[in-house]
Amino acid sequence: MGLLALTSQLLLATATVSAKWIVPGARWRDTAGNLVNAHAGGVTVDQETGKFFLFGEYKIEGQVEGGGVSVYSSDDLATWEHHGQALNPIEGHPYISKHDIIQRPKVVYSKGTGKYHMWWHADNSTYGELLQGFAQADNITGPYSFVDAISPLGNWSQDFGLFVDYKDGRAYSLYSNGDRRDGRDVYFTSFNENITGLDKVVHRFDKYDLEAPTIIQTDKSYFALMSHKTGYRPNNVVAFRADSLSGPWSQPFIVSPLNTRTFNSQSGFSLRINGTKKTTHLYLGDQWDSISLWESRYIWLPVDINEKKKSLEVNWHDVYDLDVKTGEVTPIKGKSYYGKDATTTGNAFKQEATFGSHGVIVTGIYGNDSKVTFSGIEGSGKPQWVSFYYQNTDDMGFGDQPGGSPDRINGTWQLRRISSVIVNNKVEELETLYQRDTHKGIILSTPLQLKLEKGRNNTITIGGLNNGKDVKGADIDKIVVFDPEK
Ligand SMILES: *[C@@H]1O[C@H](CO)[C@@H](O)[C@H](O)[C@H]1NC(C)=O
Ligand SMILES: *[C@@H]1O[C@H](CO)[C@@H](O)[C@H](O)[C@H]1NC(C)=O
Ligand SMILES: *[C@@H]1O[C@H](CO)[C@@H](O)[C@H](O)[C@H]1NC(C)=O
Ligand SMILES: *[C@@H]1O[C@H](CO)[C@@H](O)[C@H](O)[C@H]1NC(C)=O
Ligand SMILES: *[C@@H]1O[C@H](CO)[C@@H](O)[C@H](O)[C@H]1NC(C)=O
Ligand SMILES: *[C@@H]1O[C@H](CO)[C@@H](O)[C@H](O)[C@H]1NC(C)=O
Ligand SMILES: *[C@@H]1O[C@H](CO)[C@@H](O)[C@H](O)[C@H]1NC(C)=O
Ligand SMILES: *[C@@H]1O[C@H](CO)[C@@H](O)[C@H](O)[C@H]1NC(C)=O
Repeated sequence: MGLLALTSQLLLATATVSAKWIVPGARWRDTAGNLVNAHAGGVTVDQETGKFFLFGEYKIEGQVEGGGVSVYSSDDLATWEHHGQALNPIEGHPYISKHDIIQRPKVVYSKGTGKYHMWWHADNSTYGELLQGFAQADNITGPYSFVDAISPLGNWSQDFGLFVDYKDGRAYSLYSNGDRRDGRDVYFTSFNENITGLDKVVHRFDKYDLEAPTIIQTDKSYFALMSHKTGYRPNNVVAFRADSLSGPWSQPFIVSPLNTRTFNSQSGFSLRINGTKKTTHLYLGDQWDSISLWESRYIWLPVDINEKKKSLEVNWHDVYDLDVKTGEVTPIKGKSYYGKDATTTGNAFKQEATFGSHGVIVTGIYGNDSKVTFSGIEGSGKPQWVSFYYQNTDDMGFGDQPGGSPDRINGTWQLRRISSVIVNNKVEELETLYQRDTHKGIILSTPLQLKLEKGRNNTITIGGLNNGKDVKGADIDKIVVFDPEK
């Protein structure tokens, strides 16, 4: 059985638990128990109800393009109900057939037309058109009808973003203009009043060669976040700051701890929660899985802005509660269990590591023989989030070139470290833990929802899973077990 078949089966077997907390990087499920499938999209707040609608690329297993745009709704940004396809591919259509690229969709309400307008990066399969697609619907969930695919003011447009200024309601199209030598810019261009076409360029970020733009607006500032161009592999997202959209813009600066590659995510959208107690801004990033795009995940994190220092940071939370009414973010508490106290079997062992907790990290995890077991874990008897802090040193070099790293076998990046996680030796309930690359010495975490017995006698065992490429698990620093939801 291949990995895909194995994980599909495990996914079906996993019980549906509706969460109210936001858990970046987890397998998010909708109210029907299916994976939330809306990538590189955006969230639109319904004018009348205040409900959140998530639009994104619908990814089909084994297929790169062709899924159209899906839509989900939520009252709390954590529980998502699927409303099917907002934009369906049409066979034989020149711009939205299932062979065309329909990427980074965003939806905005147009007061002038009284309709919802969807815009996206429209292209053919070889990225030769570089257009912006436009579709309309009377109802926010659609179905949207194709109107046009335009070349923005005669130029090229690749990774697409959309921003609405909350001060005057004006909408802007944000786009990188492709990889050609004479492109490699990012444009901020105002839409016309009805949001049916583009008006004028307000700023061009010349030759930074960035993409996936989004803007976070505060009372004083505009922060423009963008990623570097490394395909589906993540990099260190940067931000520019300005008092006005037309600039002058600051130098770009990295928004997350160095070498975390923005917690293995790419920018694309952001959301402002104007709460009764606090305004919170969320970074809405994509954690791509380049081989199984349909299994890509979401990294949504609150940002910390310091207007005095003119800085913005995206900081990590394993699990947090966001009250969308008050705007308050509450990180959920967890209990840590360290590698130094765990037991190992086979060739797994504890190795000195300056960057590890207590100077130690567990390495050599491989297959079913070389594992690490954490014991004496306190459980509640209810499903709980558990974060696994790991290091994956495969790194992201070019494996097809001399000196390249193993993660780039023949030029195609692959997620190679996948571990098995077994609670209380119940092998039949094995969970798969995906451990994306980290830089050497950088520890990141990735979550699973597990069912531990009530009491303090649980064990969690981590081994390497045969993923068709390798049987290696990542190095483990610690695990953190979070309180269950009340
Ligand atoms: C906006 O759209 C409405 C409805 O189609 C139309 O009546 C109006 O003229 C448009 N406004 C502009 C500025 O084009
Ligand atoms: C995509 O469009 C470009 C520009 O029109 C064209 O050169 C290229 O052949 C097209 N690719 C496909 C697959 O049709
Ligand atoms: C519009 O969308 C809402 C929310 O999903 C749905 O309840 C309603 O039936 C839709 N109305 C039409 C006319 O499609
Ligand atoms: C198109 O983009 C290129 C590169 O940014 C720029 O030199 C050119 O002026 C743009 N053309 C238009 C019509 O905006
Ligand atoms: C924020 O919300 C308050 C109500 O809680 C409202 O009065 C205010 O206009 C909103 N501000 C913006 C900029 O949306
Ligand atoms: C490890 O054990 C599991 C469960 O018994 C089995 O499905 C899997 O094939 C084994 N993996 C390896 C790499 O031996
Ligand atoms: C790399 O590609 C070559 C030619 O397709 C193949 O023979 C070789 O096995 C590949 N190497 C690996 C490690 O997959
Ligand atoms: C704790 O679990 C182990 C098996 O993992 C078992 O042998 C032992 O009896 C348990 N202890 C208590 C106090 O339940």
